[in-house]
Amino acid sequence: MSSTIAPAASKLALLGGTAVGKITYPKFPVFTDRAIERTAEMLRAGKTFAVGRKHVPEIGEAEEVISKYHGGRHVMATSSGHSALQSALAGLEICCGDEVITTPYTWGASISCILHQNAIPVFVDVKRDTGLIDPELIEAAITPRTKAILAVHLFGQPANLQRLRAIADKNKLMLIEDGSQAHGAEVGGVRVGTVGDAAGFSCMGGKLLATTESGYMVTPHQDAYWKGAMIGQHMGRATDGGMPAELKAYSDSLVYTYRVEPFNAVLLVEQFAKLDAELESRRRHADLLRSLLSEGKYLKLPNYAPGTKPSYHLLSFTFDSEAAGISRDTFAAALKAEGLNMIGYVPSVISDWPRLHWQGYKGPRVSWLSSLEAAGVDYRNLSLPNARWRVDHALETGFDMVAPNEPMIARMAEIILKVEANIEELREHERLNGPAAPAVRG
Ligand SMILES: Cc1ncc(COP(=O)(O)O)c(C=O)c1O
Repeated sequence: MSSTIAPAASKLALLGGTAVGKITYPKFPVFTDRAIERTAEMLRAGKTFAVGRKHVPEIGEAEEVISKYHGGRHVMATSSGHSALQSALAGLEICCGDEVITTPYTWGASISCILHQNAIPVFVDVKRDTGLIDPELIEAAITPRTKAILAVHLFGQPANLQRLRAIADKNKLMLIEDGSQAHGAEVGGVRVGTVGDAAGFSCMGGKLLATTESGYMVTPHQDAYWKGAMIGQHMGRATDGGMPAELKAYSDSLVYTYRVEPFNAVLLVEQFAKLDAELESRRRHADLLRSLLSEGKYLKLPNYAPGTKPSYHLLSFTFDSEAAGISRDTFAAALKAEGLNMIGYVPSVISDWPRLHWQGYKGPRVSWLSSLEAAGVDYRNLSLPNARWRVDHALETGFDMVAPNEPMIARMAEIILKVEANIEELREHERLNGPAAPAVRG
């Protein structure tokens, strides 16, 4: 396939022309026959009681596979990404007014895991091109109450783990990774999940490593594994052996229910077996799209530092609306009319969300408001210029291209280049009609 394609100069579908054609993603996730058979066998055998590794060897098997993938770290399979993250915080004993420096530009569960520990999220801004936390802003946000940095590897892009680790070590903070969108991504030769004091990953059905609903926590600290287990697992985990004696008196059933479903343990094992091949395929497709768009003017993929291997959960672009002279939303409407649906994944910065504003709060009661009030936090109108810029300029598309699919990639490029080639007509359209409705996640 050639590395450039000619932009279609034909009239835009949004303005009455003929659409290039709909981009439909292939079925995802795909489970192998073996995975389906093993899952069915678990159900046939009535193995649905998730007490621990000894009682359900499949849980042990999953945790061993995941551990190997993460440099031999301790692993606990969980019911979800959120429960993995909250278990990670609990494992590191982060709670009760402790401050955690993190990003306002992510999926809410990266933050709710902090809130559910009655800890306090402290938001710092992100990089414009990637939406990842800007390490250089972290030190200014550290206070005597700061305990940890929680970095999110958003859209399959690894955060700058080397820099984050150095900042955490220098300031005696813990580093937590949210790898929910970036299984297998690498930066500077290391894989996400292998640098932090703990990490949480989601394996819900839409993720790179998809089961039905599950997740896992990884940590190099054995006691963090056990303390994480104590908040959300059946106390039967203690019968697996190895629980430190000093914790035993505190092992009871005062827990959240964060156990992995045993059949998802089997899916974790089987899905891991093909993860790397699927990631390579995503990378090949993303690289092809990047080369086909090399002449593009307004819609850009970020450039990554050498040694960075994103896993491309979503493709995240930024749209230069100032240079194009139209809003991101009108551009997205034109893409959609041609057949390519893209949205801004993060609809607003999280610090703006009303459920974090205890001042004058009138909504349904939530437990964290009292912690935020006690800490005197005021999230209203935080500056965060880059995160806010991205809310208006980012465009993401799903990217489950795990089987060879070059024609679809070529069509994506054709649509984007066609819309760019017609930017003047779109400018006029927007001048007459105003910008399109916000292309954001609902
Ligand atoms: C960045 C991020 N963190 C955390 C989560 C929470 O995962 P789950 O839905 O499995 O609880 C998700 C996904 O939903 C996510 O995308």
